Amino acid sequence: MNLPKSVTIVEVGPRDGFQSEPGFVATDEKIELIERLSDVGLKRIEITSFVSPGTVPQLRDSEEVAAGLSRRPGVRYCALTPNFKGLERAILAGMDEIALFVSASETHNKKNVRMSVERSLRAFRQMAQSALRRGMRIRGYVATAFGCEYEGRVSIEQVKRIVLEYIAMGIQEISLGDTTGMANPVAVRTMIRELRPILGNTAFALHFHDTRGTGIANVVAAIEEGAAIFDSSIGGLGGCPASRTSSGNVATEDLVGILHEMGIDTGIDLDSLIEVARYARKIIGKELPGHLLSAGKVNWQGQEIAARSR
Ligand code: COA
Ligand code: ZN
Repeated sequence: MNLPKSVTIVEVGPRDGFQSEPGFVATDEKIELIERLSDVGLKRIEITSFVSPGTVPQLRDSEEVAAGLSRRPGVRYCALTPNFKGLERAILAGMDEIALFVSASETHNKKNVRMSVERSLRAFRQMAQSALRRGMRIRGYVATAFGCEYEGRVSIEQVKRIVLEYIAMGIQEISLGDTTGMANPVAVRTMIRELRPILGNTAFALHFHDTRGTGIANVVAAIEEGAAIFDSSIGGLGGCPASRTSSGNVATEDLVGILHEMGIDTGIDLDSLIEVARYARKIIGKELPGHLLSAGKVNWQGQEIAARSR
């Protein structure tokens, strides 16, 4: 087996998760969650979005979150930026990294950001220049890369076109998003094989939603194809406001759990991470989909019933 020694996890719960909760999570609780995530070993965290507060009111406190955080050395803090105004806010907030996002599906992009794919890309070209000049890092999402609930199949050619645009802008990392959980391990392998020849030095991440229970299977397929960066969300929070069926990302604690069982390092302390997932459950105020939250981690000592404490 050709497994990597270690995998990088990008925690997206504070953004992908909180954007899709019906209620507003208090700013100090958001901050505490992000700080706890960094304390257990997560080195990359997407903390918020600089989007329209009318469109995503759950993240209307992005400036306060960015300013209120005590930032840990060695942790890269990222925020989503759909347009130039978002970039300006991200710069003022001192973000290390911005995430550009465009959907491979024209319909999804229009619903999500009220722009055509072409118009998003046009804005990104200018934004990328400006961000890179300032020494910020950039990751570029391709949302609905594995299918769209409105358009159905999305062609790999369309994904490639966006990836090539991103590469031409000079961004450092692409994240392929399965926004509504339509991917499967075969599609994941095919996608990676098709993209590898054009990626060059650009890093690539996978962003799986577990809408249909295929998230971890997709991660394992991607790992076997050489992928080593995965987005996930504490407790399995997550969703997309422009989607009717989207639900949570792969849960970070489930992902870390299976990676460790497979002998792959993440740099994250799993017991403490499960504690953070419990904190996420507490502030959201309802059960979350993450499996280890209820089952506990694999217990090779076997003396005790898996922790189900609330
Ligand atoms: N931050 C804050 N406000 C913003 C903004 C940003 N990045 N971009 C636009 N706005 C404001 C404008 O200033 C304007 O405000 P006003 O009415 O007070 O003048 C208003 O929003 C409308 O601006 P406009 O450029 O016409 O935007 P729009 O209504 O076409 O919406 C987006 C476009 C991209 C701003 C909006 O669709 C959006 O924020 N989408 C994000 C969705 C998302 O986060 N999805 C999750 C990712 S999967
Ligand atoms: Zn997502």
